[in-house]
Amino acid sequence: MYNVINLPYPYYALEPIIDEKTVNIHYNKHHKKYMENLNKLTNYKMPIEEIPKRIEEFPLKDRGKILYNAGGILNHNLYWQSLNQNPTLPKGKLLNKINDTYGNFNNFKNSFIEKSKNLVGSGYTFLVTDNDGNISVINMANQETPLSYDLIPLFTIDLWEHAYYLKYQNNKDAYIENIWNKTNFDHASQIYESLF
Ligand SMILES: [Fe+2]
Repeated sequence: MYNVINLPYPYYALEPIIDEKTVNIHYNKHHKKYMENLNKLTNYKMPIEEIPKRIEEFPLKDRGKILYNAGGILNHNLYWQSLNQNPTLPKGKLLNKINDTYGNFNNFKNSFIEKSKNLVGSGYTFLVTDNDGNISVINMANQETPLSYDLIPLFTIDLWEHAYYLKYQNNKDAYIENIWNKTNFDHASQIYESLF
């Protein structure tokens, strides 16, 4: 059976930036729904991270739905791990790479925020690395995952309306800016450190 990660903190942990009710609904209703859908579509056949690369092993008629729901699980797993009650900054090799690529963390953060504001419709902004360790900031639509493009996702912000609408309504830009008070780069730093 495919599963979602346990939420790494209590529902209230992201207050006042993301309210308790939003986190509760987002995790229990939205995130888990992708898990239920994927388990209805297919029995466990391979680790979820391999689904985007081995999608041709599934029946043609189911591939679109399987990719969509697997992406919904993976993207939300990473989103929860990209946030924390107490924010953390990039460390080690990832910090060095951010400084080499963007000059400093603040420039990187501003690039990321600008990218998020440019996303049209539902989707995510990701910090990704290619297989050579080159990092970039990209947008993906709906539940697409960078794994489909041979990129490794390190950090992400969910930009679907369900991520912010209860508290921010139409003020998506305020969510995009405020969330940086709760961002966690420990997870991203660990992935990058283990790869390069
Ligand atoms: Fe979401």
